Amino acid sequence: MKRVLTYGTFDLLHYGHIEILRRAKALGDYLIVALSTDEFNEIKHKKAYHNYETRKKMLEAIRYVDLVIPEENWEQKISDVKEYKADIVVMGSDWANSDKFDYLKEYCELVFLPRTEGISTTKIKKDLGLQQPINGIDQIPSSK
Ligand code: CTP
Repeated sequence: MKRVLTYGTFDLLHYGHIEILRRAKALGDYLIVALSTDEFNEIKHKKAYHNYETRKKMLEAIRYVDLVIPEENWEQKISDVKEYKADIVVMGSDWANSDKFDYLKEYCELVFLPRTEGISTTKIKKDLGLQQPINGIDQIPSSK
């Protein structure tokens, strides 16, 4: 059983997200997504439209995704790899020319997958005129 781990915010889920999840899952048998929490996004100066719980539910509905865990800081990757017994960490190619994650190679394989051209959450927001920060709303009604 090969276990793959990847990271991201996955806001306003789009085709580029589906593609990286599909290709990441194809590298192994079990895909774990470490999903940036709203608090971690604040640290990254990112404001997601959908809150963490909504983004998590959407990811869990994708057939390639086996488990969603919170990404709360930059430092947790080694402990994630150990705790979830990841064989491979997948990053988007935006990081391919950086040595930022080289330290992980001691613990697992590190794979950079090319981004899908022409789409991003930022682009969707911009195209829809949502570039200005707006309050994200949780669109999933409570089950109670
Ligand atoms: N990703 C991808 N192709 C795209 C957009 C994203 O492969 N066109 C990948 C990223 O490389 C990352 C994962 O999807 O591994 C989650 O990226 P995220 O930053 O959440 O999505 P973006 O659309 O890039 O969001 P933003 O515009 O806010 O940076």
